[in-house]
Amino acid sequence: MTDTALPAPGPEARAHSERLVAAITAQIDAGGGAIAFSRFMDLALYAPGLGYYSAGARKFGADGDFVTSPELGAAFAECVIDSLSPVLREIGNEAVFLELGAGSGAFALAALEHFSRTGTMPAQYWLLEPSADLRERQQILLRDALPAEDFARCRWLDNEPTTPWRGVLFANEVIDALPATRFVIRGDEVREQCVGRDGDGNFCFVERPADAALREIVRAVERDLDAPFAEGYCSEILPQLPAWIAAIAEQLQQGVMLFVDYGYPRREFYLPERRDGTLVCHYRHRAHNDPLFLPGLQDLTAFVDFTALAEAGTQMGFEFAGYCTQASFLINNGLADRLAAIEAINDLAERYRRHQEIKKLTLPGEMGERFQVMGFQRGIDFSRGMMLGDLRRRL
Ligand SMILES: C[S@@+](CC[C@H](N)C(=O)[O-])C[C@H]1O[C@@H](n2cnc3c(N)ncnc32)[C@H](O)[C@@H]1O
Repeated sequence: MTDTALPAPGPEARAHSERLVAAITAQIDAGGGAIAFSRFMDLALYAPGLGYYSAGARKFGADGDFVTSPELGAAFAECVIDSLSPVLREIGNEAVFLELGAGSGAFALAALEHFSRTGTMPAQYWLLEPSADLRERQQILLRDALPAEDFARCRWLDNEPTTPWRGVLFANEVIDALPATRFVIRGDEVREQCVGRDGDGNFCFVERPADAALREIVRAVERDLDAPFAEGYCSEILPQLPAWIAAIAEQLQQGVMLFVDYGYPRREFYLPERRDGTLVCHYRHRAHNDPLFLPGLQDLTAFVDFTALAEAGTQMGFEFAGYCTQASFLINNGLADRLAAIEAINDLAERYRRHQEIKKLTLPGEMGERFQVMGFQRGIDFSRGMMLGDLRRRL
């Protein structure tokens, strides 16, 4: 459970967490003594003004809790844009780039600068960001850094698009931040992991029988794996994934959806030895496995079942375009150009920094293999962008 070596928060951060604990406690009491773990995760991350993503914690980058690919530098965004520019060009004047969950805005900034440099600017750059705090940070960053005519192309959406559009939908590390349902196998029963309070009033795990819908999707996974889960097996599942994809992609008439995240194909996600799931908590660059620790001050994430994502995308009528590691995707989409640009840098310290960035993005022990890319297409061919190292046979 919690590593006692985790750094203690300051008084202000602790008080913030205590306010969130009080809000979650009220929901537990109103819920008859327990709430589903997915509800706990939703509140811990997104409770308005209090959740980890909704409040003002630093989160991203060296001074925060974790580093994402766009936070390392511009190379990741530039390769993604190189892969998607032909799609936007083919769609023409009305092409839109929609970024989900834009975090600090680092991807959007690098992407818009690269679009501008390469003369491939889409008609509009939409951002869909549920956190008011992050949305404000993105607006400040992009307004201050971009020329006015490029900033004018940015539009923050309040909801998923409800009218037809054409273009590209992109999400880096968003699915891992969706509230995950945790299930446990006890005897012949599927149970749902919930959060309640122990005798001292502290949060603790409790279980309740799964409802029919959860039971059925867990049993469907077992059928797909051709083996029942063992006694005590606990893991995560995203019952909301098909509806989530349907809501964000329903109005995309022609274009591509591209998702980057850490995850596994289903068979590897639910390996028998992965008996406690894939949930990871990030707190000041330490990864640990106690989601009940200091709510509001740490990120909670679960790996992505890429087989479930492939099913959800194709059920929406999209054609599967490909599935590969992040390293293969970047190599297939302009990594050599990034490396050539680094060689031309005279400042040795900057050249070293940029080499480190490429290593982190691509080495198997860093983000190169743990992070994977899945693409879908509708009315356009994107399979070239996903050509190298196609892993679809593992799904
Ligand atoms: C781990 S951060 C990744 C941020 C950024 N994409 C990056 O790579 O640095 C997760 C992001 O997804 C956002 N998010 C969470 N749920 C979302 C949803 N349902 N739709 C869109 N964005 C969401 C969070 O607010 C946050 O900006």
